[in-house]
Amino acid sequence: MTQGNVTRVTKFILLGFVVRQELQYMLFLVFLVIYNISLVANFGMILVIKCDARLHTPMYFFLQNLAFADLCYTSAITPKMLVNFLVSDKSISFSGCVIQLYIYGIFATIELYLLAAMAVDRYVAICYPLRYPIIMSQRACIQLATGSYVMGSLNATTQVGLLFSLSFCNSNTINHFFYDLPPILALSCSNIDVNVMSLVIFVGFNLVSTLLVVFFSYVYILAAILRMPSSARRHKAFSTCASHLTAVTIFYGTLSYMYLQPSSSESQENDKVASVFYGIVIPMLNPLIYSLRNKEVKEAVKVYLISLESIPFNCFNIGGFMTRWSLKFRNIFPP
Ligand SMILES: *[C@@H]1O[C@H](CO)[C@@H](O)[C@H](O)[C@H]1NC(C)=O
Repeated sequence: MTQGNVTRVTKFILLGFVVRQELQYMLFLVFLVIYNISLVANFGMILVIKCDARLHTPMYFFLQNLAFADLCYTSAITPKMLVNFLVSDKSISFSGCVIQLYIYGIFATIELYLLAAMAVDRYVAICYPLRYPIIMSQRACIQLATGSYVMGSLNATTQVGLLFSLSFCNSNTINHFFYDLPPILALSCSNIDVNVMSLVIFVGFNLVSTLLVVFFSYVYILAAILRMPSSARRHKAFSTCASHLTAVTIFYGTLSYMYLQPSSSESQENDKVASVFYGIVIPMLNPLIYSLRNKEVKEAVKVYLISLESIPFNCFNIGGFMTRWSLKFRNIFPP
């Protein structure tokens, strides 16, 4: 591994939070609880939307995809982070790091585009209520969702692909919780200009374009709501976008906090806290925001909690499946 005084790096070490061991255990417990809530809430969200025919609307279709993206990107980073709180060997191989970066890069981008698609959905629902079913057809929704998956793969493939052209030597300690790109680029001993440029272009484009879509959707939504004659209608219209507005505010609030501060060693620590929030806390918050503020979801959850045994029948059409099989059976073995 050693050639002269240059050491080739084959694995990385994640520093995480440098605190006393007792505190590490406490952080482990806190994040374990958050991660578990996140898993249950997002799986639950996917299931409830699948099961309840009333929730088969464009908004919940996007929400289901959002829950899936949340599950994937938090699962790409949290388990390894949890283990690192407990063990002293905090290293990971280069390929492990690449896989983590890749999954994170895909689903973090998808999240941005899904939030934008949901803003467009609210815009059409409030500004063109009569044409809503035609504009937000099933086909349009699937196209928007597919588009976000394409943008995610494009981002991850480009960023991670460019990483392979770099060489790493001497230092291999990453001052971060998970394998985000900037701290890794900072370690390279090659010229990283192209990588930094592509990161800035991709992240900049994805962030700015989706933010603009969200912003202008809400400008039109607000204008439409203010023009509504009755306050009851205004209230109703607003309440249909309140959850989305909350989710978007938290998401972009964290991102801008992460990207908009000048770099210094103190801001690096703040950055770490913000990225924990972004990678671990937000995936837990999203389903909670939507289920707590939303009467339809709350009712659906109640129904399925009361009659758990109805889940297989409603969600996976097991009833229909059994009838079909019993019919077939009767054809094969006539009574
Ligand atoms: C694109 O992927 C990189 C590398 O995984 C990631 O750091 C970045 O956050 C992703 N871009 C966006 C806009 O999420």
